[in-house]
Amino acid sequence: MKKIAILASGSGSNAENIITYLRNKDADVSFVVYTNNPNAFVINRAEKLQERCVVFSKNEMQNGTLQNMFCEEEFDLIVLAGFLLKIPAEIIESFSQKIINIHPALLPKYGGKGMYGDNVHKAVCAAKEKESGITIHYVNENYDEGATIFQAKCEVLPSDSPEDVAQKVHTLEYEHFPKVIETLLW
Ligand code: GAR
Repeated sequence: MKKIAILASGSGSNAENIITYLRNKDADVSFVVYTNNPNAFVINRAEKLQERCVVFSKNEMQNGTLQNMFCEEEFDLIVLAGFLLKIPAEIIESFSQKIINIHPALLPKYGGKGMYGDNVHKAVCAAKEKESGITIHYVNENYDEGATIFQAKCEVLPSDSPEDVAQKVHTLEYEHFPKVIETLLW
């Protein structure tokens, strides 16, 4: 049995998609959803899916409480799916090569602090990029800088709004993120 932690700070549509995909495949896997945001919609999604959801504070992330929880659970993989806080170095060390993130752009472009969600798509449109996409990468101590595992691209048209780009990027995320997780674990 594989055990996956999914961390999300907001809507959690990727979290739901990953869980649904692996359930439909009858994968021998269990999930725990974690969020730092007590108002995040991912909590409702976890409830609907009947998966355990743990809300933690920034303080618990920094004082070792979250790390202890992760160690007790013995996760095979920790998946950041729209998680907006920086993972402390101690957790990265304890779970070396076991923490992955999805970023809604083609890193190294449009990464780093403040570059998340719609901010990324607005910057892509403002720069008149002809393409964007997704990057799935290992997490290290710097935002969006760990080794790339997978990238996929989409076209950005001159007429595309940031919302249009977000939609194209979400489509890529839903298609590829669960498959990459599957490849890493089985
Ligand atoms: C996703 O597009 C993900 O790539 C992005 O947040 C969104 C979360 O959507 N992550 C980042 O920007 C991280 N820097 P979701 O909550 O509906 O899955």
